[in-house]
Amino acid sequence: MASLSNGACKFLLGFLLIFLVSFAKGEDIFLEWHVAIDTRIKPIVSVNQPVITINGMFPGPLINSTTNDNIHVNVFNDLDEPLLMTWNGIQQRLNSWQDGVSGTNCPIQPGNNWTYVFQMKDQIGSFFYFPTTKFQKAAGGFGPIRVNNRIVINVPFPKPQDEFDLLIGDWHQESYKDVRAQLNSSHTLPTWMLMNGKGPFGNPLTTAHESFTVSPGKTYRFRISNVGTTWSFNFRIQNHKMLLVETEGSYTNQITLDTLDVHVGQSYSVLVTADQNAADYYIVASPKMIADTNQSSLIAVGVLHYENSSTPPNGPLPKGPDPFDINSSITQARSVRWNLTTGAARPNPQGTFNVSNVTLSQSFLLHGGVTANLDGFVHYTVNNVSYDTPNTALKLADYALNGSGVYLLDDFPVHHISSLAVKGTFVRSGNHKGWLEIVFFNHHQNIDSWHLAGFGFYTVGYGYGNWTPEFRSTYNLYDPVVRSTVQVYPKGWTAVYAYLDNPGMWNLRSQNLKHWYLGQELYVRVHDPDPNPAKEHPPPENLLYCGLVLAPPPPPPANPQPMPNPAPPSPQKASAATSNIGWFLIVLGFLMAL
Ligand SMILES: *[C@@H]1O[C@H](CO)[C@@H](O)[C@H](O)[C@H]1NC(C)=O
Ligand SMILES: *[C@@H]1O[C@H](CO)[C@@H](O)[C@H](O)[C@H]1NC(C)=O
Ligand SMILES: *[C@@H]1O[C@H](CO)[C@@H](O)[C@H](O)[C@H]1NC(C)=O
Ligand SMILES: *[C@@H]1O[C@H](CO)[C@@H](O)[C@H](O)[C@H]1NC(C)=O
Ligand SMILES: *[C@@H]1O[C@H](CO)[C@@H](O)[C@H](O)[C@H]1NC(C)=O
Ligand SMILES: *[C@@H]1O[C@H](CO)[C@@H](O)[C@H](O)[C@H]1NC(C)=O
Ligand SMILES: *[C@@H]1O[C@H](CO)[C@@H](O)[C@H](O)[C@H]1NC(C)=O
Ligand SMILES: *[C@@H]1O[C@H](CO)[C@@H](O)[C@H](O)[C@H]1NC(C)=O
Ligand SMILES: *[C@@H]1O[C@H](CO)[C@@H](O)[C@H](O)[C@H]1NC(C)=O
Ligand SMILES: *[C@@H]1O[C@H](CO)[C@@H](O)[C@H](O)[C@H]1NC(C)=O
Ligand SMILES: *[C@@H]1O[C@H](CO)[C@@H](O)[C@H](O)[C@H]1NC(C)=O
Repeated sequence: MASLSNGACKFLLGFLLIFLVSFAKGEDIFLEWHVAIDTRIKPIVSVNQPVITINGMFPGPLINSTTNDNIHVNVFNDLDEPLLMTWNGIQQRLNSWQDGVSGTNCPIQPGNNWTYVFQMKDQIGSFFYFPTTKFQKAAGGFGPIRVNNRIVINVPFPKPQDEFDLLIGDWHQESYKDVRAQLNSSHTLPTWMLMNGKGPFGNPLTTAHESFTVSPGKTYRFRISNVGTTWSFNFRIQNHKMLLVETEGSYTNQITLDTLDVHVGQSYSVLVTADQNAADYYIVASPKMIADTNQSSLIAVGVLHYENSSTPPNGPLPKGPDPFDINSSITQARSVRWNLTTGAARPNPQGTFNVSNVTLSQSFLLHGGVTANLDGFVHYTVNNVSYDTPNTALKLADYALNGSGVYLLDDFPVHHISSLAVKGTFVRSGNHKGWLEIVFFNHHQNIDSWHLAGFGFYTVGYGYGNWTPEFRSTYNLYDPVVRSTVQVYPKGWTAVYAYLDNPGMWNLRSQNLKHWYLGQELYVRVHDPDPNPAKEHPPPENLLYCGLVLAPPPPPPANPQPMPNPAPPSPQKASAATSNIGWFLIVLGFLMAL
């Protein structure tokens, strides 16, 4: 030790500093995606339907990133209609400009390309992306997102032997364009369930099935997402236990499960150890809230294949809970808790964080429902308001027009159901840095799920029937898991908290694609009056225009006092500023090394 010179010590320190700086900033990941229709994939043989591929792949390619990485995705729209991509669960800190839904972005027109640039800021976990316009998600275009921990952060379980992305979702047997055209009249429900785009094992109408090869005694991480349009599913692996470890960016208290319910839009990680006799085993996902009929195409079946095994999977498919058993599903939902002691990205990463002492700033009671009494067509609603998608992206309208002519702020009820059904562009103010409580009610027959972009939901309670303020005393405020998508059971309610520290225009939607497409959504506008661009990012340089805003707004008058929508410095300047700090630290590191 004594022989280690002072200079060497400084050098090591400097090196460490450079190392930490480069990791905290994240790497840049550049992707080029060509989004196109392919009719030759045929998940169901004999059906010549369009499938949306990315660079020829269905599902699309993995985005494999690490916390704080900057993702640049240059998306080429080779479809015959407009396209937008969203990054389900990626919070887009200070940057709703990249969220890729109709309220935040003008669509990428056919034949054009547009580059999304966003950061995996302070997040870890399992997510997925999908197209958000024109019911395209029903045709594919989705793919997995992993946000890995920075190597300096501990992960609360040993490194698995390997990781598998498992995107499971229901599938229509028709072209998504035909399904879309029939949605408000004679819509038929999806009749298939695909696993990574492949049909059920053993089904004669499919050519391929999904299979994962494991080595005896080793442990694997499965990142399971429900990328479907309609059905919640129950997931299980024959003869194997699953250890639940993560959901949508939160490490959970680790619980051992035989089966796991995954609702539309949700993601989970489970660890599975290959601890059975070397053979092949069924991996199954069966829909909930639909009779256990002989419609075997609606049960996704894949294979867990032990290395060198020549024994095909056999016996009956492993049984799950009764598909109508809501109680066991709620019991499981309540048992998914946040692990408060593990190191991870969270508001207070150093210690515990619970919401037992927060003061609520706002409370919304939102009823998801359906109405036919509007214009003769079926519309899905929130508090009897069906969202009317304007031609101008709301975020753009907010920036350039203060919303004028596009939406009226706070014009729709958030505490009761409107006694008259209406169509409207439903934008509600969320108090910046306030805690919002939302209680969701489900008036549908099926399980619904809700997603808020920009934030995590602290899932504090699930219940049946009417909700009254007294139910607040039953909330789990100690260790509610934080996630982006929460299920709401039929005739039931789900209560969540969200901390609105992320200014922007944020989509609050049903993840059920039909509900969403036919109007069950709204936007929450979280406004920070401070014009400092470090607070909310300025529009990107490649901003697209549409609807009422076809050109950049004129610059604001010189030196106005209240500046709700100032023209901020260009993004180039902003990034130059960050890298200057980076360089400063690197130079400092070298100076210390001298
Ligand atoms: C994802 O990135 C991590 C960290 O860089 C790397 O260890 C891993 O091998 C990558 N996985 C894939 C599938 O590319
Ligand atoms: C479109 O792609 C080209 C590269 O092929 C790129 O230079 C350009 O910036 C992209 N356009 C947008 C708006 O991202
Ligand atoms: C929570 O995480 C800690 C730290 O990684 C770990 O030791 C502990 O076992 C976890 N607790 C549960 C209940 O999973
Ligand atoms: C509902 O159907 C009618 C008639 O086909 C069509 O004109 C209308 O655009 C549809 N509405 C929606 C929201 O798809
Ligand atoms: C399922 O198939 C079995 C045997 O083929 C038959 O006995 C049973 O009635 C079928 N059930 C339904 C709901 O169709
Ligand atoms: C599988 O077979 C290969 C080739 O014979 C062998 O190297 C490997 O060890 C075997 N693996 C197991 C788990 O038996
Ligand atoms: C489910 O729980 C509710 C409320 O606790 C109870 O009324 C109902 O009977 C239960 N249903 C079943 C099938 O156990
Ligand atoms: C809890 O909230 C009360 C009132 O809002 C506040 O005075 C107190 O400091 C808070 N306690 C903690 C530990 O944050
Ligand atoms: C939760 O946080 C509050 C302060 O906000 C604290 O008083 C309480 O002890 C915490 N509970 C636990 C179980 O850590
Ligand atoms: C923007 O619109 C809001 C109402 O939506 C209004 O209260 C505010 O005064 C407007 N600001 C400007 C600068 O016009
Ligand atoms: C919703 O609107 C419809 C049609 O305007 C009306 O008949 C219905 O009563 C409303 N629902 C509620 C719960 O008020």
